[in-house]
Amino acid sequence: MLIRMANRKSYFLDFREEAPGQATPHMYLDKNGNYIPNSSIIGYRAIGIPGSVAGLTSARKRFGKLSLARDMEPAIRLASQGYRLTQAQAKNLRSPYLKQFSGTRALFQRDGHPYHGGERFRQPQLATTLRSIAHGGAKAFYQGAIAHELSAFLRRHGGLITASDLAHYHARWRQPLVGHYRGYTIITSPPPSSGGVVILEMLHMLEPTHFWRDGFHSAQSLQYQIEAMRRAFADRAVYLGDPDFERLPLKQLLSRSWAQQRWSSFRAGKASRRVGAGPIPGFESTQTTHYDVVDSQGNAVSVTYTLNNWFGSGVTDPRLGFLLNDEMDDFTSKPGVPNMFGLIQGKVNQIEPYKRPLSSMVPTIVSRHHHPYLVVGSPGGPRIITTVYEIISNRIDFHLSLREAVAAARFHQQWKPKQVDLERYGFSRDTRRKLQAMGYTLAVQPPWCDGEAIGIARSRLLQAVSDNRWQGAAAAY
Ligand code: GLY
Repeated sequence: MLIRMANRKSYFLDFREEAPGQATPHMYLDKNGNYIPNSSIIGYRAIGIPGSVAGLTSARKRFGKLSLARDMEPAIRLASQGYRLTQAQAKNLRSPYLKQFSGTRALFQRDGHPYHGGERFRQPQLATTLRSIAHGGAKAFYQGAIAHELSAFLRRHGGLITASDLAHYHARWRQPLVGHYRGYTIITSPPPSSGGVVILEMLHMLEPTHFWRDGFHSAQSLQYQIEAMRRAFADRAVYLGDPDFERLPLKQLLSRSWAQQRWSSFRAGKASRRVGAGPIPGFESTQTTHYDVVDSQGNAVSVTYTLNNWFGSGVTDPRLGFLLNDEMDDFTSKPGVPNMFGLIQGKVNQIEPYKRPLSSMVPTIVSRHHHPYLVVGSPGGPRIITTVYEIISNRIDFHLSLREAVAAARFHQQWKPKQVDLERYGFSRDTRRKLQAMGYTLAVQPPWCDGEAIGIARSRLLQAVSDNRWQGAAAAY
């Protein structure tokens, strides 16, 4: 959670999940050292120690105005009285993924009588869990009855999270990353998210090129941005992880001289043949939710949090009523083996007890002349990073309206795999041919991510835009 108060002070709250105390670097490998398919993605051993309750209650304690019970009333009402499912939500709940675990099947698929669009979906067990938190605070979740129920449930099913792991968990206040681009200030997420470092590194490489002069989504301007993505994602793989466990070379990665050095191999009109992480001398290299809020005084908050993929690990403790994450897949299960997002990651992100896995979530706030200008974020794994970058660049470099900036077709490159993803219908055949002639392998894909943004005009008028690709919404209170 990234917060920028109207008095210009910024705060970052890290409530990323953590590896359980019994986790080990090789826990997802068989005896021959091969990754066991899906072992970090599905089921009880894929779950990281949950952080959302600690995060949201810590933010409320520091900045909130209402009592916790008042804050939680609407959520408790939604869980107990339910809401009508859209067709798309009902379809998602029919996923075979949710059939595999009895608790999940019982609550989300009514044990073989799946929900239909228009039906009311109630979650009474979740309402009870939320009421306990409303009365007992984060302690109820991490040390009280919920912690005991959850750890006993997981132990019965071979999970690793213990009561003492839950008691050990704390959200951490960190310094946001701050960078500058074309007269704007970019305030963004520090590790264990990789997103802020990757976006700032890209902006540093691109600013001196004036790539925007080649025109929006021209093959030429796309090539500059794709090559910046390749280089920044290669550095992500090797240098980024949990800053509480690893020494991260942030000063180097975020310096202008690093960007200059990384960009020196760029050739206009030709895909770079080999892109690896840049060498740092002396460095030991060994469906997510997003929302933004701006209030009448100009205080801004940008929040991304996640179970990892759709429905997380698939596991629900039926007495508590909520799904558990599979964030353990964001660690490096084995160097060189891609995770579910196709990311290749390094030793710096290997599993260790109580370490937090590297993330791509990147809630970001852009300011201009000390006034907030844009609050932005998205779900979508590593594509979050390029989506947030593109919304910023679409506004600053190409002067698209906020609505156009969020709606514009997206492109994505994450170092490995080598391909450049392009949203279907978004790029002309001519542009695609030119990129192929430069040496890029293209993959045309269905739409991705769900960009959410609030633009703040000089007049202080707020404009909120929710991506038309999914079912988010803009609202004023
Ligand atoms: N779980 C996805 C991410 O944090 O990047």
